[in-house]
Amino acid sequence: MTFFTSSFIVLITCLSATVSQAHPGFNFGWGGHGGFGGISFGLSPDFYQFTCPQANNIVMSVLEKAITNEPRMAASLLRLHFHDCFVQGCDASVLLDDTAIIASEKKAGPNKNSIRGFQVIDEIKSKLEEACPLTVSCADILSLAARGSAVLSGGPNWDLPLGRRDSKTASLTGANQNIPPPNATLANLVKFFKRQGLDEVDLVALSGGHTIGVARCVTFKQRLYNQNGNNQPDETLEKSYYFGLKSVCPKTGGDNNISPLDFGSPAKFDNTYFKLIIWGKGLLFSDQVLLTGNVENTIELVKSYAEDEGLFFEQFAKSMIKMGNIKPLTGFKGEVRKNCHRVN
Ligand code: HEM
Ligand SMILES: *[C@@H]1O[C@H](CO)[C@@H](O)[C@H](O)[C@H]1NC(C)=O
Repeated sequence: MTFFTSSFIVLITCLSATVSQAHPGFNFGWGGHGGFGGISFGLSPDFYQFTCPQANNIVMSVLEKAITNEPRMAASLLRLHFHDCFVQGCDASVLLDDTAIIASEKKAGPNKNSIRGFQVIDEIKSKLEEACPLTVSCADILSLAARGSAVLSGGPNWDLPLGRRDSKTASLTGANQNIPPPNATLANLVKFFKRQGLDEVDLVALSGGHTIGVARCVTFKQRLYNQNGNNQPDETLEKSYYFGLKSVCPKTGGDNNISPLDFGSPAKFDNTYFKLIIWGKGLLFSDQVLLTGNVENTIELVKSYAEDEGLFFEQFAKSMIKMGNIKPLTGFKGEVRKNCHRVN
């Protein structure tokens, strides 16, 4: 802890081959294989082993308090990592506020009045700045918070690769173009995921993130009143569920009324989400279409995760690692922000 307090010392130490060899787990993003003259810039679960070994404990203690206080917070934090990673990679671009030169992603259609959890990220960051100044990136905090949220909600745990650095830019247009909308067809959902290097298996498993949290009426209203431009409801909606949703989400107004994505167990990370889809009780069109979109692969995947929660957990963990690996900034790229809201 007192050992490598500044990134400057870490840099000097890491560039010495002898030290790297003497400490095989010593990986600050540029130990390891390939890349830059034997120096690589991959992510590693041990990234903070020497510079901030208590990082995950700090994250978990803040999460425990926040999620006990409000169980939905786990869902909001899981989603924040997803919305970060799909826009110029997992680089905490989603956390940047508007400035003269930055158009905040928070204003994008899929984010506005929707993404939340910033105060919890801020609290984690300020505790980490106290313990290990300028060391743990906001992008890694988002990733740690997403994993911790899954764990604290009863979901799977996984070995989380770390070492992402923070962007100095955001992309409002990227957020508008790359985050899939809730009324997307299955073919389009697959396209959005392919663009990020994720496949149909990732799509179905990660959609299982909707086992926790809620959605606003405006995101599923089209299904209730005019799915296909013929003023008819989405015929894949189970009838009693449909009537229940109409009472929460009237034809006019009520856009911000909320409904659980998994009404069976909205705060528990489990496989109920997939069971509900099989019963015609998926909340979003993008949920139900995994079964009804008629691409054999996704139908089989929904069924297998509904039948086998262990299989879902295993694939969710793998797909979260894959999503967390989308275009990270490593090595000398980007920076470690002091305050997640702005560049240094
Ligand atoms: C497959 C494409 C996806 C679409 C179309 C989609 C769409 C949505 C929408 C519309 C909402 C409700 C937002 C609101 O009403 O304000 C939502 C909530 C949520 N999404 Fe997704 N999502 C997708 C994938 C994912 C993925 C990959 C994850 C994470 C692994 C995720 C996690 C969540 C969570 C946890 C919530 C609840 C958030 C809360 O309660 O604050 N979603 N999603
Ligand atoms: C999805 O919703 C948006 C916004 O309400 C709408 O403009 C668009 O036409 C819808 N797309 C489909 C395929 O229904």
